[in-house]
Amino acid sequence: MAEPAFLHETRASYDAVATEFAEQFTDELASKPFDRAVLAAFAELVVRDGNGPVADIGCGTGMVTAHLAGLGLDVFGVDLSPGLLALARRNHPGLRFEEGSMTALTLPEGGLAGITAWYSIIHVPDDLLPATFAGFRRALAPGGHLAMVFQVGDEPVVRTEAFGKSISLTFRRRRPEQVAAVLTDAGFELRAQLLREPEPYAGGTETTQQAYLMARRPPLDRPDA
Ligand SMILES: C[S@@+](CC[C@H](N)C(=O)[O-])C[C@H]1O[C@@H](n2cnc3c(N)ncnc32)[C@H](O)[C@@H]1O
Repeated sequence: MAEPAFLHETRASYDAVATEFAEQFTDELASKPFDRAVLAAFAELVVRDGNGPVADIGCGTGMVTAHLAGLGLDVFGVDLSPGLLALARRNHPGLRFEEGSMTALTLPEGGLAGITAWYSIIHVPDDLLPATFAGFRRALAPGGHLAMVFQVGDEPVVRTEAFGKSISLTFRRRRPEQVAAVLTDAGFELRAQLLREPEPYAGGTETTQQAYLMARRPPLDRPDA
């Protein structure tokens, strides 16, 4: 089957600016206390509930992947962009990074104790979000945890230029309650939500609120597991 145009455009856009993107964002977590707090809670829950492999999906240069490894998790990265993956492998030679799309995961069923999706569902169109979350749920073991963050808003933002290069990238801003409903419909149990105000970041100052959601695949003792 032919690849959807949005996937091709997203991959080509990140590949085109991979080096510049990496330079700007590689150490960003150091100045993001809310991100670190949510990732710390995620890591603690994964360990508490049995531990096991964790996939950082849409890992980019591996910033979150490496942070989670530093918190003791057995984590690997998955990303669409070979350009970003090359930088992730160069920056974090001890970690594993795989090429793939979150819209068509090929991970074994039930093999993961956790999934993070850090600013990566933002490039998935609304109509593919239910199937994407169903894929996350399939890849997680019962009781497995999911943590994500995304920009809050109602309208997508289309960028045609970044770092002086021509790109075609759509950033889909969403309401947390909208994403939470899709997660619940896909069989997730919502565990935590955090909405924060804009903060300075490596590229300037954020222009929207940011939403963190945590959910889990119900454990086996739940009827919908
Ligand atoms: C804004 S960047 C965030 C990167 C990283 N998570 C971070 O926080 O630094 C979005 C990332 O999602 C990846 N991505 C976009 N669509 C994807 C898809 N369908 N499957 C896997 N990765 C995807 C992009 O290649 C890019 O690395």
